[in-house]
Amino acid sequence: MKVIIKKNYEEVSQYVAQEIIHLVNVHPRAVLGLATGSSPIRTYELLKEDHMNNGTSYKQVCSYNLDEYSGLTPDHPQSYHYFMHKQLFDGLDIRPENIHLPDGETDPEKACAHYSAMLKKHPRDLQLLGVGSNGHIGFNEPGTSFDSHTHKVALKESTIKDNARLFFNGDEDAVPHYAVTMGIRDILDAKKIILIACGARKAKAVAALVKGPVTTDCPASVLQTHPDVLIVIDEEAAQLL
Ligand code: GLP
Repeated sequence: MKVIIKKNYEEVSQYVAQEIIHLVNVHPRAVLGLATGSSPIRTYELLKEDHMNNGTSYKQVCSYNLDEYSGLTPDHPQSYHYFMHKQLFDGLDIRPENIHLPDGETDPEKACAHYSAMLKKHPRDLQLLGVGSNGHIGFNEPGTSFDSHTHKVALKESTIKDNARLFFNGDEDAVPHYAVTMGIRDILDAKKIILIACGARKAKAVAALVKGPVTTDCPASVLQTHPDVLIVIDEEAAQLL
């Protein structure tokens, strides 16, 4: 695991965007694993700017997102479907049929098995990750098996609280209590993984994932076992290293 410390969110985003742009230019058919949350928003803006200004094309790129809330329709403004279209896909030339997100709505068992089967068939060249303040990756909360595949999860109280800031008026009651997420095994199957973390509220999780024991108490610590991981963080998130 390589840790790259940048001055701030902007520099972190510039670095990560360049990694993705390089990959897509070298491998126009790259399979990308993408993440939601506030961490990758600026990176996504930079990808859209680069597409517009330099013409990097995503026509042959396939994307697989990490997770989705249960019970929100894809056109719900708080769904991750909506988020990805607004923050990234609508500004690229990626083909709609190449975009994949877990289905948080219908029969979860069937939908999860289907998503895991697709992931197996289309190994990701790069998986982008954020990290929850409790060390979760995707929505794999503390205690999740490292061998897990796509599954439905009950969100921890701390995650519901954390994510409320992204809902209307920070309303905790509006945050769904369940989600569907790629499993930890699925995440580890990516050839390369880049994790973004910024701000002091991530410092504890970053220290645990980089320096702590590999334990299901901090799901992100499993990244220590992967051969090609970049942890790209700002100075605030690095303060406990
Ligand atoms: C959510 C997402 C994660 C994301 C995490 C961190 O729980 N399911 O994939 O990494 O939030 O979010 P943020 O980047 O907003 O701190």
